[in-house]
Amino acid sequence: MIYYFSGSGNSRHVARLIARESGQKLFSLNKFFKDNCCFQKGRELIECSQPLPLPDDKDEVLVFVHPTYAWRQPRLLTSFLAASARQLKQRQLYFVATAGSGFGGSEKYLRRLCRDLGATYMGLATILMPENYTAMFAIPDEAEAKRLIKAGEVKAKNAAAAIRAGSPLLPDPALCKRSFLLSTVVNPIFYKFLVKSRAFYADDRCSSCRVCELICPLNCIVMAENESGALRPQWTDNCTHCMACINHCPTKAIEYGTASRNKRRYFI
Ligand SMILES: Cc1cc2nc3c(=O)[nH]c(=O)nc-3n(C[C@H](O)[C@H](O)[C@H](O)COP(=O)(O)O)c2cc1C
Ligand code: SF4
Ligand code: SF4
Repeated sequence: MIYYFSGSGNSRHVARLIARESGQKLFSLNKFFKDNCCFQKGRELIECSQPLPLPDDKDEVLVFVHPTYAWRQPRLLTSFLAASARQLKQRQLYFVATAGSGFGGSEKYLRRLCRDLGATYMGLATILMPENYTAMFAIPDEAEAKRLIKAGEVKAKNAAAAIRAGSPLLPDPALCKRSFLLSTVVNPIFYKFLVKSRAFYADDRCSSCRVCELICPLNCIVMAENESGALRPQWTDNCTHCMACINHCPTKAIEYGTASRNKRRYFI
């Protein structure tokens, strides 16, 4: 089974390819989280009404495809998998991470997670895709995005072949440098000080279409009337900064303070 969590669709795109190439079923954690889970501040699972659906065959491998947040797997994924430990014990887990530029020490944290779960770590594939962190970094132009996606698809197919063969996945060492400082020191600072929803707002381009409310995997967005009676999104503080809302808004009405102004929006 191929499970994915994805903000702008990079990890979903990779997961779809791997599912197709390896003949395995695809499972959206976005939908599962939206329908069943509540994460405090977008990172700690505090409630989930359903266990994670698993394949009946205990020997079937589980593949988790996810973006990289501050040089590790997203915290909400760690928290969710930790809460599913009883089910994941002795299962074989593969990880496929996408990122915009580098993965830092991601592998160390995934190995540690598997050890804590009592699961078998089957490796990590590291796939560069277009940057999607509109609130922080520049998004590549269309031509560069296309080039990255093409190269990413080749890597995804290689990963699928390894998974099919039951071989371990190996991260690209050139993309996993400076791991100590970034993954160990910067990651907690990033979550403590930067992952907040306060700076999100929708400007006058908003057409009240509700796409942002529907697409948010953590139900952080609620539509409410403003002073003029128009329906506008409001952000609650359970945001995990996945960037789905800001990138999918059809009128580009969503901004993140001044940081996102005049930046390209991106999703696949
Ligand atoms: C909150 C956040 C943190 C990110 N941190 C990193 C990072 O540490 N290294 C990196 O190369 N890319 C980073 N990125 C970029 C994404 O990992 C990358 O674009 C990924 O492919 C997005 O996948 P998705 O569309 O499936 O969510 C970050 C993006 C976001 C939104
Ligand atoms: S997706 Fe954009 S246009 Fe639609 S409700 Fe949200 S902010 Fe408004
Ligand atoms: S509010 Fe936007 S950035 Fe935050 S979790 Fe929801 S979709 Fe992602």
